[in-house]
Amino acid sequence: MTEWKPPRLAAHIIINRHLSPAEESLESAAPGVVDADGFHRAATEIKAWPGYQPTALRQLDGLAARLKLGRIFYKDESTRFGLGAFKAVGGAYAVLRHLQDKLGGSVTASDLIAGKYRDRTKDITVCTATDGNHGKSVAWGARLFGCRAVIYIHQGVSVGREQAIAAYGADMRRIPDNYDASVRACAADAERNGWQVISDTTWDGYREIPRHVMHGYGVMMDEVLEQLPPREDLTHVFIQAGVGGLPAAVAGYLWLEQDALRPKIVVVEPEKADCHYQSSKAGKPTAVTGKLDTLMAGLACGEVSPLAWTLLDKASFAFMTVPDDAAVFAMKTLAEGIGNDPKVVGGEAGVGGLAGLIAAAIDAEARKALLLDEHSKILIIGSEGATDPVLYAQLVGRKPEEVLAA
Ligand SMILES: Cc1ncc(COP(=O)(O)O)c(C=O)c1O
Repeated sequence: MTEWKPPRLAAHIIINRHLSPAEESLESAAPGVVDADGFHRAATEIKAWPGYQPTALRQLDGLAARLKLGRIFYKDESTRFGLGAFKAVGGAYAVLRHLQDKLGGSVTASDLIAGKYRDRTKDITVCTATDGNHGKSVAWGARLFGCRAVIYIHQGVSVGREQAIAAYGADMRRIPDNYDASVRACAADAERNGWQVISDTTWDGYREIPRHVMHGYGVMMDEVLEQLPPREDLTHVFIQAGVGGLPAAVAGYLWLEQDALRPKIVVVEPEKADCHYQSSKAGKPTAVTGKLDTLMAGLACGEVSPLAWTLLDKASFAFMTVPDDAAVFAMKTLAEGIGNDPKVVGGEAGVGGLAGLIAAAIDAEARKALLLDEHSKILIIGSEGATDPVLYAQLVGRKPEEVLAA
């Protein structure tokens, strides 16, 4: 990028009228979504898995100065367990919890990894529908803990992403329709074959597994609170949403940990897959139909996860949408590094929150509406690296390894 020139776009922002008052507890505002015990158990389990390493929290001072903001912290999930995305800690954790429930007693992750129960787990099948990252996590978890995985993808999932999941030994099924159709196909086959669906979205009578997924995501926030420099209290989190499990986990974790001091949560979505924005506008969960053909593949969801929505409806300060151009610009900004900022590889869906922040910070009205100023301290969850390296190189103009080597 020779000249740093963010695309001018009409910022679509809704300030949430249902935001809970500061003194309200999470349990009274949104009961049964996430809780402290669930986060604690997940973090303890995940931190004991082989290869666990906290991911970096990067400070983007150059970009913060350019946007006339106080601080920007970027949680860089590109290295998570070698899978390239935060989802590694959600789906795989839910696979583990399912196997523990099935086998009963005090079966541990290390027992399963050591193959102690392989004769029983090899006949258990888990399945899921995915935009890419969640399916990779489920496939990886199934391989790690010793069961079988069947993964459903939709027409918008690139061949690169399909191959990355298949590499973990999963049986792949491509549905010639959108994400929500792949969810339905997966549920129907599971019912017929007695498989366990490991979904990151909830529906009537199906909540426990997605709750495990959300609790798994909490490990990121555990790390963030340990990594933040002292006295750097966050004022905002800009966080991208697909079905809403990620933002609900982040918002729920911060609510439990920081209570009345919790930062403002701004949920960011692609313009073409804006089910949270539309739900906020309508005051109830509202589906978005159509091809949902955004470049931000991981966010191409037309329906909110109802359970996550009950929390986001109370915890979000605002909902906003960004066009694909804004995501590409955010990817390039990270790859370039403003001033002395580190050069960071962020994938299309992974930079949704950053794209929203840039769009809002350069627009006087949006800046005012979201209460952004030179004292704001913002957390961004960079939820994936170049999970589709070919697409990344096309969009950024350089391969991920070239960016990192620069
Ligand atoms: C990279 C990335 N970021 C964010 C999300 C959104 O997470 P959720 O669907 O839980 O809202 C996804 C979902 O697949 C994703 O792959």
